[in-house]
Amino acid sequence: MSSIIIKPFFHKDTCTISYIIYDLNSAKAAIIDSAIDYENNAGKVAFYFADAQIEFVQHHKLEVEWILETHAHADHLSAAHYLRSKLGGKIAIGKYITQAQRIFKDIFALSDSEISVSGAEFDLLLSHNDKLYIGDTVIKVIETPGHTKDSVTYLVEDNAFIGDTLFMPDSGSARCDFPGGAATELYQSIMQLYALPDNTKLWMCHDYQPNGRKLQYQTTVAESKKSNIHIRNDVSHDCFVATRQTRDKTLAVPRLLYSALQVNIKAGELPQTNNRNQVLLKEPAHALKID
Ligand SMILES: [Fe+2]
Repeated sequence: MSSIIIKPFFHKDTCTISYIIYDLNSAKAAIIDSAIDYENNAGKVAFYFADAQIEFVQHHKLEVEWILETHAHADHLSAAHYLRSKLGGKIAIGKYITQAQRIFKDIFALSDSEISVSGAEFDLLLSHNDKLYIGDTVIKVIETPGHTKDSVTYLVEDNAFIGDTLFMPDSGSARCDFPGGAATELYQSIMQLYALPDNTKLWMCHDYQPNGRKLQYQTTVAESKKSNIHIRNDVSHDCFVATRQTRDKTLAVPRLLYSALQVNIKAGELPQTNNRNQVLLKEPAHALKID
């Protein structure tokens, strides 16, 4: 019998779902894709969401081994750095985060002291088939690029934490038009997920609750193959890529794109306080061309 418990947390402002996974035998835990509360218009940062996770960890007397990112998110600011400062543990992300660091270092004109391009802000960079442990439980890393180059899935027993590879069947798949994204790679990544056993649970990183339906955290490989609106099992590569690229042309730039990437390429660390006691994020006037 499995000794794994999965506790989802829903971040309402960005529709992000973060997870605490823990092993009952050892009380060791991993936190996946946490979020900072950030009101960009008001210039306000808070940590209510992450604090609720910290409270959960403390209440259950867990030891956090891993703080995991499925990718460099463009829609919310990661709370990984904050969580590590409060709970310990190591922050890990896919090794191609270095590509995102290079691209956004350039876009934000960041200095060498502000950002590495080596992934040094993270404790561990992950490759395909790497294994992490919480107690005796294995977290297997599957590279699933397409939405972003650095995207990975974390497979824990029959639970796949898939980031933005797929959404719930009524929402389809994630956009591929960010720098480093590619619809053809996303197709291959989804086929990797579809090759997992049919009863594998696919845990979402977002749920946008289309048509006001109830919040859902997970589907299965079988259900996604049967009814995902973008990519049922019988959808060809070319058809998927055409659908994805057509749709991407209609999508708006995410509200928090620049603030999120600026922080997330540094494992969720906010910029240093300056000598006027200010924390400032940059925003380009000539926006990045997303196509
Ligand atoms: Fe994303």
